[in-house]
Amino acid sequence: MKKYLSLALAAVSVGVQAQTVNVICSVQAEWCNMIGTVYARTTGTKINVSMKGSGEALAQLIAEKENPKTDIWFGGTGDPHLQAAEQGLSLEYKSPSLTQLQAWAQQQAQQSGYRTVGIYSGPLGFGYNTELLAKKKLPVPKTWNDLLNPELKGEIQVANPASSGTAYTMVATLVQLMGEDKAFDYLKKLHKNISQYTRSGTGPIKAAARGETTVSISFVHDAPGEKIHGFPVEAVTPTDGTGAEIGSMSIIKGARNLDAAKKFYEWALTPAAQEMAAAAKQFQVPSNKAAKVDANVPDFKKIKFINYDYAKYGASAERKRLIAKWEKEVNSLPR
Ligand code: F6P
Repeated sequence: MKKYLSLALAAVSVGVQAQTVNVICSVQAEWCNMIGTVYARTTGTKINVSMKGSGEALAQLIAEKENPKTDIWFGGTGDPHLQAAEQGLSLEYKSPSLTQLQAWAQQQAQQSGYRTVGIYSGPLGFGYNTELLAKKKLPVPKTWNDLLNPELKGEIQVANPASSGTAYTMVATLVQLMGEDKAFDYLKKLHKNISQYTRSGTGPIKAAARGETTVSISFVHDAPGEKIHGFPVEAVTPTDGTGAEIGSMSIIKGARNLDAAKKFYEWALTPAAQEMAAAAKQFQVPSNKAAKVDANVPDFKKIKFINYDYAKYGASAERKRLIAKWEKEVNSLPR
């Protein structure tokens, strides 16, 4: 009896020690690292965090579909999470905490057949370096058209929509705001003012903060963190309308550590876990209604939003089509 008891205990302790969760993390490094450290310390779970932009994360999950190495995908814009759901890359899972979440986060779950869930939200806008703008005697850009000012030639950065969810949100927002033909005409004109399409969505705001570019097209919740670090950067949302992301989280179908993935998922939906975003100086709106909203989080009531159609622009065929069209008709043009 004693022998079996100790064998059982040994098995349990091996089980506990062996809990591992492999996470692709698509928010900024400080938040990913904080989650990794705190979660490992408080639960004893070994957590492997790999950082990838939203589009790159999806590409990796498609590539490893037959033999998934990832258990959970944390963060990144919602459209590629919806695409992952549609392509059968993520697992249906209905969290008991769903009702604690904001309506938009629950809607994201419903729309995906419960294969993803909203963990935060944030608006798209423009970042600008206050010193460079003043030096160039340029006004603060307030509308999408303001970015076409010839004086901003080579002075704007945005990411590449294939690798970055931020940039795909921009393309989808413009298509919804202007209609597809006008949106692509606009993107072609904007192309002349772009110095660089970065891989990561947060690259441009970091460049604006550091004076490497004057203006960026970015999620505005990524600006206060740079400002807190002392950089002369501000952000605005266009007065003619903008889109918002529903940052999402998905459990991967075929996850090798499914139990551990579910535990991490539940933890990530708690107010305490969501408040880590602000602690890591990232200021999206948390999806848990009980999570504190930091004073740096953009005030949604003051922003003019389009009625972003997440189901349409998160559909696999539409996302692929728009990115391919952008590559062919915009990115290939000379500047
Ligand atoms: O963490 C910053 C952030 O802006 C998130 O809000 C967003 O989901 C993510 O970056 C998008 O990153 P990318 O554009 O590189 O996919």
